[in-house]
Amino acid sequence: MGENMDNKIYLGSNLKMYKNVDATVQYLRELTEITKDISREEMELFILPSFTSLESSVRNVDRSLVKLGAQNVGWEEQGAFTGEISPLMLREFALDMVMIGHSERRHVFREHNEELNQKALMALKHGLTVLLCVGETASEKDFGVAAEVLRTQLKMGLHQWNVNDISNLRIAYEPVWSIGESGVPASAAYAEKMHKVIINCLIEMFGIEARKIPVLYGGSVNINNSIELIKQPSIHGLFVGRSAWDAQKFNILIRQVLEEWKKDN
Ligand code: PGA
Repeated sequence: MGENMDNKIYLGSNLKMYKNVDATVQYLRELTEITKDISREEMELFILPSFTSLESSVRNVDRSLVKLGAQNVGWEEQGAFTGEISPLMLREFALDMVMIGHSERRHVFREHNEELNQKALMALKHGLTVLLCVGETASEKDFGVAAEVLRTQLKMGLHQWNVNDISNLRIAYEPVWSIGESGVPASAAYAEKMHKVIINCLIEMFGIEARKIPVLYGGSVNINNSIELIKQPSIHGLFVGRSAWDAQKFNILIRQVLEEWKKDN
């Protein structure tokens, strides 16, 4: 399981449009405190709060224990882009990472692959690790084109990236039909199959070094399915929504996943 080359497990959460500044800081403090005994040599833990909570989060969190990132970024450094956030603005907080192409950005806000590629290049230029989310819709799955969709999202999203850039890259595979309240979690076998498609595509793009890129599964991960998912050889970590938003519950999930992962690492 988790056979990417750096032998670390990746666990993170996107707080979406939940938690105000106080609730975010309280959550991050609690999560840091109850997980601080876990060696970060074997686990990377990251949280993506709302834009308005980033400044307080950075001030209150030990980043060697919990990495922090933004949920989105604009594709220009500055200009007449009302409502957008520039990578330079994110850099003021010295964030570790930025997520690009979350399913809600793609489907609710209609972001397309070309624009996500511009964002990914801009984030790279400014030294932010990119968490690129990919995933097929239910209809794409039913038409049997899930692999083609994933390959397109990767090839377009990471266009003009090269092998020297991949230490700044994480991929989250999140099938659209598996996310949120009405989502149906992917079976571990299906997730493994799609992770293999992703890894093979990354190898095709960047060569064998691409095996170092962590590929996380996300979409209705919970305390009951997390062990089966992390057992899969091509799943290097888990990207958790609802089941991570209570620090105590996330801690339980983290520890059970880590225990399982350690059996083979
Ligand atoms: P969920 O969210 O775990 O609540 O389904 C996952 C996500 O949107 O990243």
